Amino acid sequence: MKPRNNFIFILVFVLYGTNTLAQLQTNERAEWFTDARFGMFIHWGIYSGAEGYWKGEKLRFHNNYAEWIKYRNRISNEEYITLLDRFVWDEIDPEKWVILAKEAGMKYLTVTAKHHDGFGLWDSQVSSYDLGDYTDPKRDVIRELSDACNKHGIKFCLYYSHWVDWEHKYGWDHSREVYGLEDQHFDQYWQEKVIPQITELLTNYGEISMLWFDMWKHHSETVVSKEQLIQLKTLIRELQPDCLVNSRLGLSIEEDPDIDFKTLGDNQLGTRKEEFPWQSPATVAHSWGFHATDDEWKSTTRLLKSLINNVSLNGNFMLNIGPRANGDVPYEISQRLREMGKWLNVNGEAIYGAEAFDLRTDQHDWGKISCKETDHNYKLFMHVFNWPLNKTLAITGIVDIPEKIYLLADKHKQPLEFEHTGAVTRIELPDKQPDRYISVLVAEYREKPEIEKGLVAQTTEGGYSLQPQNCLPAINKLQLNKSQIRESVPAHLDVSSVTKLNWKIYVSEPGEKIFDVSYSYQGNAGRAKLSIECAGQMIKHTVVPTGKTVGEPNTDWVIDSFESFRLGKVNFPTPGMYEIALEIEPGKLEEVKFQWIWID
Ligand code: GLC
Repeated sequence: MKPRNNFIFILVFVLYGTNTLAQLQTNERAEWFTDARFGMFIHWGIYSGAEGYWKGEKLRFHNNYAEWIKYRNRISNEEYITLLDRFVWDEIDPEKWVILAKEAGMKYLTVTAKHHDGFGLWDSQVSSYDLGDYTDPKRDVIRELSDACNKHGIKFCLYYSHWVDWEHKYGWDHSREVYGLEDQHFDQYWQEKVIPQITELLTNYGEISMLWFDMWKHHSETVVSKEQLIQLKTLIRELQPDCLVNSRLGLSIEEDPDIDFKTLGDNQLGTRKEEFPWQSPATVAHSWGFHATDDEWKSTTRLLKSLINNVSLNGNFMLNIGPRANGDVPYEISQRLREMGKWLNVNGEAIYGAEAFDLRTDQHDWGKISCKETDHNYKLFMHVFNWPLNKTLAITGIVDIPEKIYLLADKHKQPLEFEHTGAVTRIELPDKQPDRYISVLVAEYREKPEIEKGLVAQTTEGGYSLQPQNCLPAINKLQLNKSQIRESVPAHLDVSSVTKLNWKIYVSEPGEKIFDVSYSYQGNAGRAKLSIECAGQMIKHTVVPTGKTVGEPNTDWVIDSFESFRLGKVNFPTPGMYEIALEIEPGKLEEVKFQWIWID
């Protein structure tokens, strides 16, 4: 557990005793959020009328964020506002976005009340740069969305750009990095625009479930002071104590435990289990605001995998729609959202209120696991990204025997045959996977099952891949040499002094297995050695120089070659747990770059 706040931890522990409790560092306010897991993000504003182009020119940056056009193409406040002429107000019906969120199985919705352009989507009394001042009859999209969300049972949340504001003469604008901005001037913007606008939004629009701020830097690196952020947060707590606040406010959750959840980078997915609430903001293509030529559409399967990945690590997934200036949501987006909704209709139990299980996130090559404790049992959900060709799915690392295994899509919960030995459960799968995207299996246990920590699972093809990343105890990440030069040099461990690595596997079928090793060695022949000890047997190997290769046809792309060698065979006399101990002895000043051992 991260030392986020010992007090909260102790308090939670006292309140809930030793029960397995979802996400220990979730405060009560954020419980709905960790249960919800899936939400809608809406980027809609004047920029939606530009569609990524201004006076025939594409947005000036390779990162095609359409909502940045005002800044990128140096458009004045006055000219920018003329884009409103393209809005088809008779056709714009924000309730349709809420209905789409509902159909997609999303539980909350966050709309850009004010994005970096400084233009408010409501009738603000403290600014004249908002919809109320530029529509006749007046439109207040924040009110319309708030009403629609209440009607359809979706939590209503607001995005508000507090740091960047290209309209106000003292809001932050990146050109200020050249020209500077006095603290007292920024404070003028803060006191006359940010504070009163947040007050309006939290006073006049009913329940606001979350305020989503967007400063992707820590306050110490920006013009915004910690005092200003605390002033803002205190105001929020006073006006709507249940409103969640994200870490892009500029205060990290480590610094201030009162921040409700951490927001990762744009389209950044989780990579490890966390005990605090967190969220990935994501797009279906690339841009947030509608962009006429953005067509990097992610498939429905990929979006579902992203959602599942995050849930399997205790995270949230907030997926964006960028409607056009007539309110239409591009078909490529609405179609995928509806497909996700259909999948969730069947498999939602494995997502909503589900959480991370204790096995390593990359434990299985076939997919991800989420879990849920109910009043009378404990369920594991196996999200099978790759339906195994041999129609057998192995769960490795759970000692207890499940009571029952079935397909989540099967209303009758027809039990699937399985075999459990030691720490491996092998499930017989039906020939065809029931879902064309991702099928989910449920394993029911009487209570939370015991796990055997640190086991390396058999791959779907049947071998074991022992790497520096999955050895025991886990290698310190800093020691690992990440893959380099567009991954043509694979991740490996530089071994420059005698090093021992250990792994644990569970072997269900006794017999002989072949051991291979992969490494790169640029030293002299005969100087480095390695040995393997397993099941009371020993294999010795003299490390062979592997020379160079070319990573990509290109004369200047010469890299150290990683080659694999057959080490020999080991006999596993009985089913059971086995340790594999590898010792690498490099030559003097001649390191061995160790990559993996493969047992088959
Ligand atoms: C970035 C961009 C912004 C977008 C946001 C979404 O901060 O500046 O345009 O709204 O990411 O996460």
